[in-house]
Amino acid sequence: MHRIIVDTDPGHDDIMAILTALAHSSELELLSFCTVAGNQTLEKVTNNILKVEDYLGIDIPVYKGCDHPLVKENKPQPAAHGESGMDGPILPEPVLKPQKETAVEYYKELLKKEDKVTIIALAPLTNLGTLLKEAPELSDHIEQIVLMGGALHGGNINKYAEFNIWHDPEAAKIVFDSGVKTVMAPLEVCYAGGIMLRETKRFNRKGKVSKLVKDLFDFYCRYAIDRGWDSTAVFDLIPILYLLNEDLFVQKKGKIDVILDGEDTQGQTLFKEGEGDHIVLIDADREGCMKIFFDAIDQLDERYI
Ligand code: BDR
Ligand code: CA
Repeated sequence: MHRIIVDTDPGHDDIMAILTALAHSSELELLSFCTVAGNQTLEKVTNNILKVEDYLGIDIPVYKGCDHPLVKENKPQPAAHGESGMDGPILPEPVLKPQKETAVEYYKELLKKEDKVTIIALAPLTNLGTLLKEAPELSDHIEQIVLMGGALHGGNINKYAEFNIWHDPEAAKIVFDSGVKTVMAPLEVCYAGGIMLRETKRFNRKGKVSKLVKDLFDFYCRYAIDRGWDSTAVFDLIPILYLLNEDLFVQKKGKIDVILDGEDTQGQTLFKEGEGDHIVLIDADREGCMKIFFDAIDQLDERYI
C-alpha cells in the first residue's frame, strides 16, 4: 500500500490520473490533493478538483498551494486546457471548500509526523520546491516523488523543455538536488504510453465517470486532432500507472539537471545515465497502460452512480 499525496493543477490529464488512483484505493491510499498554479491560476485549478470531488460525492482534503512560481510569472495554458483549466465538462460551482492551511504548511505538519509518504507531482514543482527550500530536513520523510515532467529529446513548450519543469525551473532544480528519491516520467514515456484517439470512443456510454472522461477527452483531444495525430499522451496518468505496476516501464538510473535560462533551453532536463540516483522512465507498454486505465474507469462507473 502506498500512502500518496497528489500535487496537481487540474487539468484534463490530472483528473484522469486521479480517477485511476481512486479506482485503486486498496493499493493507493489517497491522503489529500495539493493544488498549484500551472495549467491555470491557483483559484481555477483548485475549483476544478473541488468540482470533480462534488460530482463524485467524495471529500478528500484539498490544500491550496503556491499561486506563482518561485522566480517566474504565471503562464497558464488555455490552448491545452481552456480558460477554466478543465474546459469540456459542465459542472456546477463546488460546494466543498479547500482546507484553511496552505499546501506547504500541510506538507510540513504531515511530514514531521510521517516518513512513508509518496508524492505524485502532476504539475509545476513550486509547492515541493518551496517545502524543500524551507524545510530541507523533511526530505528524509518523503518516501519518493514520482513526477510527470521533463523531456529527453524535445520539448512541448520551448525547443527542449516540458511545461511543468519550464513553468518553475528553479523549483524543479531544488527537488532534483534534494536527495529525495525521484522518479521522472518525461514527455517521451507519456507519448509511448498514450491513448489512440479511436480508443476514446469507449467512454461514449452511460456511466457517470465515463461521461466525465468523455467530456474531458472531447476538449483535450482537439489539440491532437488539429495536428493530425492519431493518438495523444495522457501525461499525468503515467506516474500513477508506474506506482500500480512498475513492470510496464523501461527505466534508467542517472542524474537529472535542470537548465534555468535560455529561450530554447529554460526548463530543459539533462539526463546523464549512471551518474546519480534519479530514475527516468523511458518507454512504456502502451496496451498494459491502457488496460489499467480502462478497467479503472469501468470500476468507477459501478462505484459512483
Ligand atoms: C503537463 O503539462 C500540463 O499541461 C499537463 O497537465 C501535464 O501535467 C504536460 O506537459
Ligand atoms: Ca498537470
